[in-house]
Amino acid sequence: MLKSARIAVFVSGGGTNLQALLDAQRDGKIPHGEIALVISSQACAYALERAEKANVPAHTVPSSLIQHDFEAAIELLLEQYKIDVIVLAGFLSILSENFTKKWPRRILNIHPSLIPAFCGVGFYGLHVHEGVLARGAKVTGATVHFVNEIADDGPIILQKPVAVQPDDTPEILQKRVMQEAEWLILPRAVSLFCDNKLEVKGRTVRVLS
Ligand code: GAR
Repeated sequence: MLKSARIAVFVSGGGTNLQALLDAQRDGKIPHGEIALVISSQACAYALERAEKANVPAHTVPSSLIQHDFEAAIELLLEQYKIDVIVLAGFLSILSENFTKKWPRRILNIHPSLIPAFCGVGFYGLHVHEGVLARGAKVTGATVHFVNEIADDGPIILQKPVAVQPDDTPEILQKRVMQEAEWLILPRAVSLFCDNKLEVKGRTVRVLS
């Protein structure tokens, strides 16, 4: 019998990906995981209300703190709630190497493009979709990957493509990528992690059956 992994979800905004995780948990789709903590880098994030409605403890650690204090406050919460795995779900603050190296292969991130396209420094939120449209790409999508010390560089866990349509605006494309890709692959990847079904060799992740 697998122990249930205690999950912390880090957010900064609307929290639709957090909602997808909460819904998946409610529907029994993450049988070996428990969303035990939500941390927001913004006090006004709507994601905090989503956590409250789902009776999940939620705390704000403001991104205005200096990096050392920001990460120290986060670490204290992770310890307090005995967290096993961190999910970055629209978390728009940078975690330093000092932090990420303490959580090897235990931080997952959702990114709204097919990595290695449209990712890295400066590519976050709506900017990703603006970049896709500016380049005239016909296909985009979403990626869940493990986090290492370089932005959007860690081993890729799951990806799902999404078609770009001729009249897309960044907002329309963002919504389609969320609906058709992000909200599906993030809960799936978290569940696979909690089931111990992700085998990492170098940069390649194999999903065990
Ligand atoms: C999502 O599209 C997520 O993939 C993106 O921010 C949005 C947050 O929305 N994350 C990044 O760009 C990280 N590089 P949400 O708060 O509604 O989940």
